[in-house]
Amino acid sequence: MNIDARGVVEKSLIDAGCATIAAPNDLRQAFVNLAQNMSTDAALVDTFHAFRTALQQTESLPKCPSLLSGLAVLSLFPEMEAIHAHSGVPKDITRATQADLLIWMEHEKKRTGQWGLKKVDWLRHHLVGRLYRIGRLQYMVQPWYHADVGNICRGDLVIDVHIPEDGKLDRDDVRSSFDQARVFYQNHFPELSCRAFVCESWLLDPLLQTILPETTNIVAFQKCWRLFPSEEDEEEANIRVFGMHPVDVDTAPQDSLLQRSILKSIRAGKPVRCGIGLISI
Ligand SMILES: CC(C)(COP(=O)(O)OP(=O)(O)OC[C@H]1O[C@@H](n2cnc3c(N)ncnc32)[C@H](O)[C@@H]1OP(=O)(O)O)[C@@H](O)C(=O)NCCC(=O)NCCS
Repeated sequence: MNIDARGVVEKSLIDAGCATIAAPNDLRQAFVNLAQNMSTDAALVDTFHAFRTALQQTESLPKCPSLLSGLAVLSLFPEMEAIHAHSGVPKDITRATQADLLIWMEHEKKRTGQWGLKKVDWLRHHLVGRLYRIGRLQYMVQPWYHADVGNICRGDLVIDVHIPEDGKLDRDDVRSSFDQARVFYQNHFPELSCRAFVCESWLLDPLLQTILPETTNIVAFQKCWRLFPSEEDEEEANIRVFGMHPVDVDTAPQDSLLQRSILKSIRAGKPVRCGIGLISI
């Protein structure tokens, strides 16, 4: 049993989930303390279960304190593992997919100083077996939701690619990830015939090729794709690069080459927005 008769998450479940995502000890301890609070606080148990149940369905999520949200996601790992096992997904891919929980909790810790999870809707894709991390990148099959690009029409099934915040974007890792993903979908989801990898991201605004050196990973990543314009504005780039939107050019950090290059471009009236990339399969 992973959840006891009172509805409290057992320590064994927390330990197993934390080992899977290689959680630092203070995060594991924060979850353990929270579970201990649950044992004397029936309202906390109710909030947890309402949220956990909603997470497994398509309904909108009720309010939940952000550390409790992280615990709810972690507590659903066994169910997620069963879903993956049913499709024959290798265990290392399941573990790598689960590790996104730590990436987003670290993101929140960096932002607020406290462990928590704000990006819960995103993690729902992982829990229901819609999104997989394969090597450096994440993949999710879905109908193309924009206007037609290249030979892809709105509604066609595509493999949407995402780039987790997890170290460098090494070009060999990227190539290897695409190769593994092709094999993965053929082996595990042959019924989903997708015609392309697609990606909409600030990393794919072609402007970056004009302000960054050829040798950077971002430019190398762009060169993997056939690029198309996106309607999205500069918010994603500003948040991902400066942690703020809009960017205050006088106070924004200037620690990296990218930050300095984008600030110069913003001052020249050309912020980095988004681009759409397509790779035919
Ligand atoms: C994608 C990512 C891994 C690329 O990083 P990378 O491999 O270091 O990329 P590059 O080699 O091209 O970086 C060139 C320069 O830009 C800097 N840089 C890259 N991404 C940066 C970012 N998000 N914020 C600030 N600086 C960044 C690098 O540190 C490097 O600067 P330096 O030479 O002064 O050290 C990184 O941007 C990242 O983690 N982004 C968050 C995830 C994300 O945005 N996903 C897409 C969601 S739509």
